[in-house]
Amino acid sequence: MTDNVDGAQALSTFSLDGDDLPFQAGETLLQAATRAGRYIPHLCWHPDFAAHGSCRICSVKVNGRVGAACSVFAAEGQVVESNTDEMNRQRKTLLQMLFVEGNHFCPSCEKSGNCLLQATAYQMGMEGPHFEEFYPSRPVDASHPDILLDLNRCILCELCVRASREVDGKNIFAIGGHGIDTHLLVNSASGQLGDTAMSLEDRAAHICPVGAILPKRRGFVIPIGQRRFDAKPVSQQVEGAPE
Ligand code: SF4
Ligand code: FES
Repeated sequence: MTDNVDGAQALSTFSLDGDDLPFQAGETLLQAATRAGRYIPHLCWHPDFAAHGSCRICSVKVNGRVGAACSVFAAEGQVVESNTDEMNRQRKTLLQMLFVEGNHFCPSCEKSGNCLLQATAYQMGMEGPHFEEFYPSRPVDASHPDILLDLNRCILCELCVRASREVDGKNIFAIGGHGIDTHLLVNSASGQLGDTAMSLEDRAAHICPVGAILPKRRGFVIPIGQRRFDAKPVSQQVEGAPE
């Protein structure tokens, strides 16, 4: 906050791609940008949860140094570069790595058109995987009567972990393993979702940005072509921005 000539307090600002944006004390760059309706690409961040800082898709240059916009606090006079060829090229590479690490077959996925990974890849101009696919062997857990868990599509954003723990108070999910073997775990004796207290009403059942957690028997209720990102690209739908 700074005092102007009338003694009134003016909001502090930083510059995002050449435009001055106001911020409130304690806001991260991504929070301030979102409140202003400005798009900074992100996958593991959601406006309702604390930053997790794992996907690095939100990386921006802050006064010339790279940092995660979801974790770096806004400060007076910062110069932030986000929508540049250099940053978007890096994001595209990270997205291509995410695609080859898992098994993402968009045309047959119920989440197609509503998927943040797919929409962000389109936004970054990704036309192919570039790297050789890993085709990892990952399980599909159909044991729950109402919810399908398909780990082939999981990008380890931990949003379901956080939603289950912080909103639902159930702690259904956890992350296990190391490096390329890191994977989502289900907290039950059998490791199966059907043996947990998860319910379709849980926040965790609806937070997955990709098609890894899906309600059963809802397939193609919204036709392809009429889904969220079919209507407008992700950059024009800043989730959490004021209406
Ligand atoms: Fe994220 Fe979905 Fe994987 Fe959970 S299942 S970690 S919400 S991608
Ligand atoms: Fe910032 Fe994932 S959105 S690291």
